[in-house]
Formats: sequence, C-alpha cells, structure tokens
Amino acid sequence: MSSDPEEPNRVLGIPLRTSSRARPEAERGRPETERGRPETEPTRPETERTRPETEPQRVLGFPVDWFSSSAPGGPKSAALAVRAFRRWIRSLRPGLARVDAADDVLAGDARMISREREGGEVAEAELVPEGVDPSKPSPARMYDYMLGGTHNLQVDRIATERFRASMPDLEDAAWANRGFHGRAARWIAEQGVRQFIDIGSGLPTQNNTHETLRQILDDAHVAYVDSDPMVLVYARELLTEDGTTAVIQADLRDPRSVLDNPDLRAVIDLSQPVGLLMTAVLQFVADSSDPWGLVKRYVDASAPGSYLALSHITGDRLPPQSVQTGVDVYGGATESAYPRTKAEIERFFDGLELVPPYAGAGQIIVNVGQWGAEDPVAGNSDGAQAFYCGVGRRS
Ligand SMILES: C[S@@+](CC[C@H](N)C(=O)[O-])C[C@H]1O[C@@H](n2cnc3c(N)ncnc32)[C@H](O)[C@@H]1O
Repeated sequence: MSSDPEEPNRVLGIPLRTSSRARPEAERGRPETERGRPETEPTRPETERTRPETEPQRVLGFPVDWFSSSAPGGPKSAALAVRAFRRWIRSLRPGLARVDAADDVLAGDARMISREREGGEVAEAELVPEGVDPSKPSPARMYDYMLGGTHNLQVDRIATERFRASMPDLEDAAWANRGFHGRAARWIAEQGVRQFIDIGSGLPTQNNTHETLRQILDDAHVAYVDSDPMVLVYARELLTEDGTTAVIQADLRDPRSVLDNPDLRAVIDLSQPVGLLMTAVLQFVADSSDPWGLVKRYVDASAPGSYLALSHITGDRLPPQSVQTGVDVYGGATESAYPRTKAEIERFFDGLELVPPYAGAGQIIVNVGQWGAEDPVAGNSDGAQAFYCGVGRRS
C-alpha cells in the first residue's frame, strides 16, 4: 500500500476509480459483495455490476481513508482487511485467472497491510481456519478454486495455476466432473434411492449434493464424508435444519471409521439401498492401499439395489506433459494423485451391473462429459477427457 501523499491515486498498488456517486450511509462499511442487493441474489463479479457515477473513492468496498493507519473506525483486525482484499481479488478473478504474477503481487500487498495494521505481529496463519495446514495445497481446496469457489488459500491457487499452465482445460475438466456427479446422483434418485453417501465430497459448492437431489426428492438423506479438515470448517453450509444431512471428517481408507460413524448412521440406514458417490476421489488413493478392495468394502456394506457412481482421473487421452505436471503438483500437496488407465478404472465396477451411460450405449464407462448427456458428442469436450466414469448397480 502506498502511503506517499504524492501518490493519492493508488492504494495497494491499484489505481483508484475516479468517478462514483455516494452510497447510502447505511451501506457504508458493508463488504462490497454484500451491498445493494438482497441476501438471496447470487453474487456477481464486481466487474459486472453497474457502478454509481459519483461513488466515493473506495477500495475493497471500504472508503480509502479507512486504510490510513490513523483512520478512525479502521479495520478491526488485519485479517478483516485481508479477507476483504481477497474477496475483491476473487471478484476480479475472471479477468485475472491466468495472471499468477498479478495475484502474487496483490497478495503481497495484502500481507503488507496486515503487518501495518497490527504492528508486524500478524502472521499469515491468523487468516487460516484452525486445523488447516496453510503450507501445502490440498486437493479439496484446489478443486474448490477450479470451480470458482471461495474456500481456498493462496498456496492452492498457486499450485492450481501451475497445473493449469500445462493443462489449459483444467477448469472444464473440473466442471465436467462436477456435472457428472450431479447427473449421476439425480439419476440414482430417480431409480428410487433416497439416501446417499458422498465420499470425498469436497468443499461446499454451489451444487451441493443434497441441494441437487432436493430438485427431485423432498427428503433426500446425504452423508458427506471427506478427510480434509476444511470441509468440517464449512460444514454448516452442508447441514440442513431438518437434520437430513451429516458431515463427517474421515479417511475412506478406513471404511469402518466411515461406515460406523454415528453421525453417518443417524442419516443413513445401511439395510436400505444407498447411492455411493465416489467421484474424483479414488485418484488420491495409492495402489498400495488397494483402492479396488476399498470400493468393494463400501459396496459390500450396502444393501442390494444400491448404486455406485464413480469418476477417476486418467492420463489416457491427455498430453504426457500435462499428466506429469499434475502428478508433480499433487506430489507437493497433502495427497498425491494417481491417474489410472481405462482398464484400471473399469475394475472398480467388478461385480456390479454397469448402467448404459446414455441412450443406445452398452454397459460401458465413458468420459464425464458423456455420461447422462443428451448429446454425447457435444459432451465429449477436451476437459472431459481427463476423467472416466460410470454408474454400477449392486444386485
Ligand atoms: C477433487 S475433489 C472431488 C469432490 C467431489 N467428489 C466431486 O467430484 O465434485 C476430491 C476430494 O476427495 C477428498 N479426499 C481425498 N482423499 C481422501 C480420502 N482418503 N478420504 C476421504 N476424502 C478424501 C479430498 O479432500 C477432496 O475433497
């Protein structure tokens, strides 16, 4: 942040807007993303919103003076300033997504503010939820970032951008996979299944499983399971008031810790068919942990009539360099990644009756863009090539 009086038009290294109109007094101090719209209106990027003509000079949604170290009513803590800053950065992300350097520079400015506000006492760790290791990227937070979510840290964004530099279709791949997750869950619900165990559920997104299911099932029961501590931090976004969802932190490599968990048992009756959702998660389980044997444990614990929906990353149809970069990036993350071949992914469905993925198809696995697609040719996007998927029924 520039404190040079000779440079009044820049704050945090960013030029100030010069034309604006005063906002109502009551709205001042509220973060930019929350002002001027009802709670229910979805957040739109700042760049898309209409700005009043004579808005006072503001940065991060706060009056410029607020950033001065002598400002009355300044930020209560450096963390608040940095959170606001990050929110603002995210609102610009569509335009900045591929500009790592800009992000790094801006984050550096944010750290500078935090030191200024707290006399140098504030550490980065203060900005990170308890129990979350900010020193390593995590698959859950990286995936959240790929989907445009807000539950990620700088270390995740840097790692993801490194991956993206070698795989430009990364975002498309993530969305194609998420699309399969929702279509498969809905299809299973249409077969009469009312309860789901979402293993490796990921962080809350805009298409949470129970919300997707509620479009067709009033009383869907969902147990979210993930090993990442950040999922519990944001668990309240997945919990419903009527108690039909549960969120548990557990490692799928220990099936008993999942299946015997009392919170899971409170919403899931294993004597009745379940939808086992294991999308984009087995790729984080090494061969040495026998991922095929683990899937069988979950399937065997489910009642006849249950379904398994599974997707898994593959390098079969990607440039070797992209695959290697992905493996390297996740090698430095909290979990390593293990891309598998089509034959290895088909093995997850051993003993199950594979469901034809679209009209006219046989009992096969396909890429995530094709499964459940009205037009499997259109669904066959470049990003979708990164995942094979299928749905199998236990008879
Ligand atoms: C790429 S995300 C997939 C999220 C979601 N299933 C989807 O397909 O949209 C992978 C998730 O699996 C979780 N995960 C990885 N290894 C796991 C394990 N051993 N047990 C439970 N969850 C795990 C990660 O924390 C992350 O949230």
